[in-house]
Amino acid sequence: MKPIQVGLMGMGTVGGGVFTVLERNQEEIQRRAGRGIHIAQIADLDIEKVKAIAGDKVKIVADARQIINNPDIEVVIELIGGYGIAKALVLEAIAAGKHVVTANKALIAVHGNEIFNAAREKGVIVAFEAAVAGGIPIIKALREGLTANRIEWIAGIINGTTNFILSEMREKGLDFADVLKEAQRLGYAEADPTFDIEGIDAAHKASIMSAIAFGIPVQFDKAHIEGITKLAAVDIRYAEQLGYRIKLLGITKRTKDGVELRVHPTLIPAKRLIASVEGAMNAVQVYADAVGTTLYYGKGAGAEPTASAVIADLVDVVRLQAVDPKQRVPYLAFQENRVKDTIVMSIEDITTSYYLRLHVVDVAGVLADITRILADKNISIDALLQKEALEGQNHTDLIILTHQTQEKHMLSAIKEIEALATVQGSVTKIRLEELS
Ligand code: HSE
Repeated sequence: MKPIQVGLMGMGTVGGGVFTVLERNQEEIQRRAGRGIHIAQIADLDIEKVKAIAGDKVKIVADARQIINNPDIEVVIELIGGYGIAKALVLEAIAAGKHVVTANKALIAVHGNEIFNAAREKGVIVAFEAAVAGGIPIIKALREGLTANRIEWIAGIINGTTNFILSEMREKGLDFADVLKEAQRLGYAEADPTFDIEGIDAAHKASIMSAIAFGIPVQFDKAHIEGITKLAAVDIRYAEQLGYRIKLLGITKRTKDGVELRVHPTLIPAKRLIASVEGAMNAVQVYADAVGTTLYYGKGAGAEPTASAVIADLVDVVRLQAVDPKQRVPYLAFQENRVKDTIVMSIEDITTSYYLRLHVVDVAGVLADITRILADKNISIDALLQKEALEGQNHTDLIILTHQTQEKHMLSAIKEIEALATVQGSVTKIRLEELS
């Protein structure tokens, strides 16, 4: 059988990886797919760069629409990124009846519902394993491997840049800004790292996982997003003294009041396996009713890890293209007419535990005032750490870990605590998850 003809749009790092891995492992991949996979055409503005990787065997064009208009191309790989031209090209490829494989998390998180509707109408596959956690097959696991389960929650370290920065901050006791500069110098962080450090990239990925886990539309616009830019080295140190690590987590949970969908720095017990995920690595922990806890670990970015996911999608296309579209695994795991409009809860309504750092005047009664405010709001204290005041000073740090409460109760308690004459400056609040 003739190999499936593939067009690749955007030959950057991942595109190069796809090309290399397909060439290197073609025999093994063909044994699995039952058919060869041939990249027949590549679109990229830098034709010379593509030639250096792909040689003369592949048709190289500057205009991606030549791929869409090529009747021999059955599958388009979109590796351009972003939601500008990439969105237009993906929709045009679908309209032309081509299957699409993409690594574009922003596109799926923001325009996924529209793209899946268009693809459903045309009966084509849109596959996006590489969009979440790079080489970790988490989409496959959530959508197929865990299909017997009622998934309860997912918590993931799904941004390598920020995990690298947090690991460095903890190991070296450095502040965020210093580590970011070093990470940029070493090439771990982009020149413009906004999407990573502000939590947007992680929120894209969390929104996609949330939709697949709970059978709801993709709702990036409802995600609560906080990055790591305001995180102080001192909090990482205090957390460690209390037996916790701070990670930027993408969290989504099913609750009786709706779905929680949030990205923020989070204290997690140091003894959890996921807490020891360091550097640029990714990990996703899933809790589901039948299987219990499962943990998926690996490289969340990079040429070949991401190519691994892209090629797995290509093999799926080869295997499933002849299958009646209604019999294929649904894009978001659940049958389209069974997707529910479960509300995504606002951050004030979520329930979690908290780490609080207060700077207090070290006089009698301070602690009593603070604990009374918390008790009045039914917020129970789990642990307390009071640092000794430095010699000659009468103020010190007070760290409080609380049990679970609703965010709105915590916000109102913090307001009252900050109004106390004995509390200096604002209270630092970091959410805490036991992940048990
Ligand atoms: N910039 C992402 C990260 C990789 O740092 O994990 C691509 O999503």
